[in-house]
Amino acid sequence: MCGIIGYIGPDPCAQILVQGLQKLEYRGYDSAGIAIVDGGQLQTRRARGKLMNLIETLARDPIDGTVGIGHTRWATHGGPTEHNAHPHSVGSVAVVHNGIIENYLPIKRELIAAGHTFKSETDTEVIAHLVWQNRQRGIGLEQAVMEAVRRLEGAYSVVVVDAEEPDTLIAARLASPLVLGLGEGRNFVASDIPAILSHTRRMVFLDDGTLATVRRDGVVVRRISDAVEVPVEERTIAWSPSLAEKGGYKHFMLKEIHEQPDAVANTLRGRVSLERLAVDLPELQMSAEEFAALSQVYVVACGTSWHAGMVGRYLMEDLAGISPHVELASELRYRRAPMDERTLIIAVSQSGETADTLAALKDAKARGVRVLSICNVIEASIPRASDGTLYTHAGPEISVASTKAFSTQVAALHLLALHFGRLAGRLDDDTMRAELSGLVRAAASMERMLQHDEPYLQAARAWHEARSMLFLGRGALYPLALEGALKLKEISYIHAEGYAAGEMKHGPIALIDETVPTVVLAPRDAHHDKVRSNLQEVKARGGPIIVIHTEGDEETAAMGGIAIPIPDVPERILPLVCALPMQLIAYHMADFKGTDVDQPRNLAKSVTVE
Ligand code: G6P
Repeated sequence: MCGIIGYIGPDPCAQILVQGLQKLEYRGYDSAGIAIVDGGQLQTRRARGKLMNLIETLARDPIDGTVGIGHTRWATHGGPTEHNAHPHSVGSVAVVHNGIIENYLPIKRELIAAGHTFKSETDTEVIAHLVWQNRQRGIGLEQAVMEAVRRLEGAYSVVVVDAEEPDTLIAARLASPLVLGLGEGRNFVASDIPAILSHTRRMVFLDDGTLATVRRDGVVVRRISDAVEVPVEERTIAWSPSLAEKGGYKHFMLKEIHEQPDAVANTLRGRVSLERLAVDLPELQMSAEEFAALSQVYVVACGTSWHAGMVGRYLMEDLAGISPHVELASELRYRRAPMDERTLIIAVSQSGETADTLAALKDAKARGVRVLSICNVIEASIPRASDGTLYTHAGPEISVASTKAFSTQVAALHLLALHFGRLAGRLDDDTMRAELSGLVRAAASMERMLQHDEPYLQAARAWHEARSMLFLGRGALYPLALEGALKLKEISYIHAEGYAAGEMKHGPIALIDETVPTVVLAPRDAHHDKVRSNLQEVKARGGPIIVIHTEGDEETAAMGGIAIPIPDVPERILPLVCALPMQLIAYHMADFKGTDVDQPRNLAKSVTVE
């Protein structure tokens, strides 16, 4: 949801900013722009649409200079035009912003009354005017930005540059992500780690309500409320820069699908002991007594992470005897669900920055609820607001459509369910051994599945022009049907619905005809016979079938026009392995159609606005 970057150092920085924006483009691609102090003057280049347009503009009209800021936009206020593109500049000041300024209208009215002229419809432009107004009163840049952001309500991460104070960048944040990268004689600011990972692994994660003054030789961080300096806590990131590259794959999405065996293994690494038959999760910071005192559990998430949470409910019911409420964050945060100190809330989020999930979690915390999170990006806002975090260690996920984040979240929820099951004294050694070895072996099954893409190509060839598709699953595979439909919608723009197979006859069956294919998740599990009956109901109405079946189950395979085999794995491992066909069907359909797989229209990876 908008990506921002800043650089100050000895090098010409246009290229550094553009390379950073390439890594951030998944956050929004309605427009892009950079502003650099060049020979004491502020030079700005902006272009609507994808970053490529900005690159072309810069090729025609380059800029030099060693301090600058950049932005890639997901439009909220004002259409995706060039004049709404960031950076927004007033006088010698330029600003990039991620977030929403909720009180921009009264500020804008006040500034217009004071004689300011606005050039865009954005909420962001008020920040540039406020800073410039302060600068004209003779206030230094740090103080000018401090006073400006104190007036803002809503969410922001901003970076400001001023040609009249060219040896400083100012960065500030409230409820939108911002990280500083520390180098030798050069420093960076960005919305997230991959944007600057090729330059440094030394990062500082800014706290909410802080402002950083970034110079070539160091950074100073202060609280916005009272300008008191706070310690700079440096972290070294283990991710290697190559993880944020395509590595020979046509798309990041395909690369990330193929990374899943390793990613799931990384989620399990160091947490599973087959000798002690234990799951070690000290990061939860939760004792057996505290667990025993819980009266209810909520799982809260958005999008694909919500689907992982739904899988988690089946796992926790089976293994720990807990039936969590699995809630969409955007709904839960506005409900009056009863919660107290005996409630546990588990936030699931790849980015750790999703605004609704963060707000739901903070709201619960304010009511005394214990907060855990399952997250991929370390030190993001959600883990920082949690009492304990289970990191998935999936590595950077660049493709807007989430893949390895989902499977690693499912693996993490499985670990959590086993841990809770042990704490509850419900799991005997044999069950524990079977569960743990099933989990440990899952990566190898996934690896094997990734060696075959023929059935997906067959499905894509046959159905990439379909207008609508259905996905059916039962039990823990119902959320997989939802996920399969979501993936297809997101990247191929084919309308799709995921449904609980048994519910299909209460409505969606009316959609079935020979032009509407149905993907049926029908591996051998407790629901196998019932799902096969549901499949026959679709077939009887002329609906084409793509069936996901257990290897060797030729009878079920024969029920589909297209059959996709999956390995014979324990029932509770099925959600993990079934994630792959859901992702690969969508991927190959989209690739066949020629859509922009990694950056689908209208979407952004990290939704940091409500
Ligand atoms: C966006 C992304 C999805 C993601 C969802 C939740 O919609 O496009 O892929 O599942 O946000 O994001 P989170 O980072 O909280 O998991």
